[in-house]
Amino acid sequence: MLKPRPVRLSWLIRTGRLSEFSPTALISEKLGIDWLMMFDEYVYGPGPGIVELLDLILRYVKPKSFLDLFGGSGALSKLASLRGVKRITYIDLYPDAATLNLRGISGVEIIKGDAMDFSRLGMYDVVVADPPRELIDDFLEKVDDLRKIFKKTCLIWIGDIEELEERSSLLEGRKMVKVIRAWGDCFATLWKPGFGDIVKHIKDLIEYG
Ligand SMILES: C[S@@+](CC[C@H](N)C(=O)[O-])C[C@H]1O[C@@H](n2cnc3c(N)ncnc32)[C@H](O)[C@@H]1O
Repeated sequence: MLKPRPVRLSWLIRTGRLSEFSPTALISEKLGIDWLMMFDEYVYGPGPGIVELLDLILRYVKPKSFLDLFGGSGALSKLASLRGVKRITYIDLYPDAATLNLRGISGVEIIKGDAMDFSRLGMYDVVVADPPRELIDDFLEKVDDLRKIFKKTCLIWIGDIEELEERSSLLEGRKMVKVIRAWGDCFATLWKPGFGDIVKHIKDLIEYG
């Protein structure tokens, strides 16, 4: 594999690697995300499901602090900042694009490191986790530890709809968690007492309009 490197969104579009109408391009432009990380020929960026769902959570829950695990381009941290969150921590193994995208935004701490090792990062009102597919199962094994680091809600990408059945078994029998489907992706949404009604309302909004 080539060394992952930050590339400009405009270059990806100009060279035909990304359509200007792709959800990643449209969301990045709207959020002012100019750089994405390129891994060989593949780029990671914000997806429509996680962005729409997180936006609703930020607007209803009104967190003061936010943790962006596997933060990639930093788009979700930027969204949190736009929604008024004052303390934001971002972590990813490759934070180069996020460092460029989040320049000049106050209250954001960027950490280069292993997001699986989240227990040392402190407590946050809202936590989001957008792991690569190959880490989802290992990450879900850590749900009990995750509950110790958020105060209000936590959103985890758990794969696309075809994978839902196999992943559901990892969440079965657990309290205060709902799977929400958005734009072909599935998310485990966890909450602490007092936030269940908000999560149920957001699920209704996003799944049934
Ligand atoms: C699906 S992408 C996240 C996209 C991101 N939400 C965005 O808006 O750009 C997954 C990310 O996980 C990162 N990653 C993979 N393994 C990791 C690990 N063990 N710790 C931290 N980051 C990791 C990759 O570098 C990649 O940026």
